[in-house]
Amino acid sequence: MGMIPEKTVQEILDTARIEDVVEEFVSLKRRGSNMIGLCPFHNEKTPSFTVSPSKNLFKCFGCGKGGSSVQFLMEHEGHTFPEALRYLAKKYNIEIEEIASSKEHIEERKLQDSLYIVNQYAQDFYQKQLFESDAGKSIGLSYFKDRGFREETIRKFGLGFAPNGKNIFTQQALSIGHKEEMLKQLGLTSQYGSDFFRNRVMFTIHNLAGKVIAFAGRILTNDKKAPKYINSPETDIYNKSRVLYGAYFAKKAIRQLDECILVEGYTDVISLHQAGIENVVASSGTSLTVGQIQLIKRYTPNIKILYDGDPAGIKAALRGLDLVLEQDMNVKVVLLPEGEDPDSYLQSVGASEFRKYVDEQAKDFILFKTQLLMAETANDPIKRSELIKDIVSSIALIPDPIKRSLYIRECSTVMEVSEELLVEESNRAVALHMRKQRQEERREQRRREREQQRKPQSPSRPQEGPPARSGDGYFPDAPPALSEEEAELIDGEPATTAPPKRAIGNEFQEKDIIRLLIESGSKWHDEAKGINIATFILSEIEEIIDDFDNPLYGRIAKDCLQRLVTNKSVDTQYFLNHSDTEISKIAVDLIHSPFEYSPNWEEKHSIVLRTQPMPELNFTKDSEQALNRFKFSKIGKMLKVNQERIKKAQEENDWELMQRYIKVDLKLRASRSELASILKTVIPPPTA
Ligand code: UTP
Ligand code: MN
Repeated sequence: MGMIPEKTVQEILDTARIEDVVEEFVSLKRRGSNMIGLCPFHNEKTPSFTVSPSKNLFKCFGCGKGGSSVQFLMEHEGHTFPEALRYLAKKYNIEIEEIASSKEHIEERKLQDSLYIVNQYAQDFYQKQLFESDAGKSIGLSYFKDRGFREETIRKFGLGFAPNGKNIFTQQALSIGHKEEMLKQLGLTSQYGSDFFRNRVMFTIHNLAGKVIAFAGRILTNDKKAPKYINSPETDIYNKSRVLYGAYFAKKAIRQLDECILVEGYTDVISLHQAGIENVVASSGTSLTVGQIQLIKRYTPNIKILYDGDPAGIKAALRGLDLVLEQDMNVKVVLLPEGEDPDSYLQSVGASEFRKYVDEQAKDFILFKTQLLMAETANDPIKRSELIKDIVSSIALIPDPIKRSLYIRECSTVMEVSEELLVEESNRAVALHMRKQRQEERREQRRREREQQRKPQSPSRPQEGPPARSGDGYFPDAPPALSEEEAELIDGEPATTAPPKRAIGNEFQEKDIIRLLIESGSKWHDEAKGINIATFILSEIEEIIDDFDNPLYGRIAKDCLQRLVTNKSVDTQYFLNHSDTEISKIAVDLIHSPFEYSPNWEEKHSIVLRTQPMPELNFTKDSEQALNRFKFSKIGKMLKVNQERIKKAQEENDWELMQRYIKVDLKLRASRSELASILKTVIPPPTA
């Protein structure tokens, strides 16, 4: 492809209006001088996606994405920079005089353009036949209508009818000047000059931009010898393994719902779409390819596969799914009732029943596979051990070690084998898999180096030290309990080289604790047992008292502990008159603004604060909540540190260490969700 001249690039950038561009994908409402809408890049219910016509930029205040029209298209449509420019040029009718990088490239583009044009012509022809010719109406249109397709659906998906004649289409195409050569290349016309699609109903296949790239024709008779569907051959514009049927119509819904439903057939896609289930694509009979998965992955990591209820087919299909795991997608499968495909089942039970069924029946792929195969291997130890290998090798493909270990746990239950055994097997499989990957990478690297004809670079990487392990503090075993290993993370630095960031949230939680100590420390927590608030708080955090991010707060906590240990009082007056002027000053501040939370505390931490009509009566509850929030934030930090360690251990093939850290991860998560339920907090999704 040629280059776009600099002045044209500038012209495109100057012409493109951000609001025009975005509005094709996001519905926007005016608010003041800006426009707002639901962000297409992350899931949200209240709009934080803002478009500023005056600045000609977009910005999402939820996820932070932002930029110009070009960046929007790159991000949203997966375009490269030049692709985005071309898209805009087309939209604004700006002609691109390509700088010929080579004559061939220009020829290639011209050829592609004319392939699209001829295909579009063919679609129009088939559609006209369907709606206007006698045979089209009586055979084709009535067929689609019998299947429940409404006219608007038929038009939207570009369905048509190929007449039953030797060369009706070809003749007409030639008569208006299309080149025979083109028609043949696209597979519309056979080598002998006759129509390829005859007496079939036609399905148009679009690329992501909505251009016509191929066709499929379905037979209308019961002839068992003829194939049910025939398809266009691969061409310069149609690469089967990179196309999913329906993707053009589904991409918006996939992004919005953050899930892609995968079905097998053309009619399944159309039926579901018509019923309002729009996040659907089909692999069109072929088994799923990496290219297709990557296409889905541009829009969502979540995929739900609907299978016809026929056991033989399912088992074959399951093999293909390892590919999906390898791409780090979350895969669920739904098995339809025996003898039904998505289309037929939908038509028989209706949309709402269908949705319900799909939601209820969706099973995690690995567990589904395990259960399915388990049923077959009952009482056959050899088959069972093969099954274990099979499952484990699937699990080993999942790039995320934490996800992997969760699967191992669940599968060990389903398969009734010990977790240790599975862990061992899986580690072996992962190591093997990673070695293979590395070999492939190296091979690829060498190939590239040779291609560039440069001097080969030294392949050795800089030496990395052993994983960081430090600290010996531990969390007190008041609920939720944490082990030494977990607590060891508290003061372990993340394995990254970035300087540790001070978490704002932590500051507020720490401040909360200190405020309670100063303000209510001497009040009773449990009068019967003679425990005051300060004692209660400090005994809970004694073991992590060195872990305050704010050194002043840490100092106050320690000072307070010191007083308690020596049986001295810790009332407000003590702090207000403290000899350390920093402490007395902060005491004054805290007392005077006792309930000043961060204004966006709720948003940032999704924490539902209790309203406090009478804070002076609530300090017991308050102190418990404050403690929990404090621990909650510490656990978040520990989880991050630990995840870095898992990654590092994996890179270094230290399986034992990795396993240890994974156990820590699981425990931390359990503690965190326990705390979260106490705090009624929504746990943010894990940040990988
Ligand atoms: P099905 O046989 O399930 O067809 O093939 P279908 O889509 O449900 O169509 P109807 O409902 O009978 O009209 C599933 C898919 O496999 C591919 C097609 O993509 C089809 O949609 N296929 C099937 C072929 O490519 N060629 C064939 O001969 C059969
Ligand atoms: Mn069908």
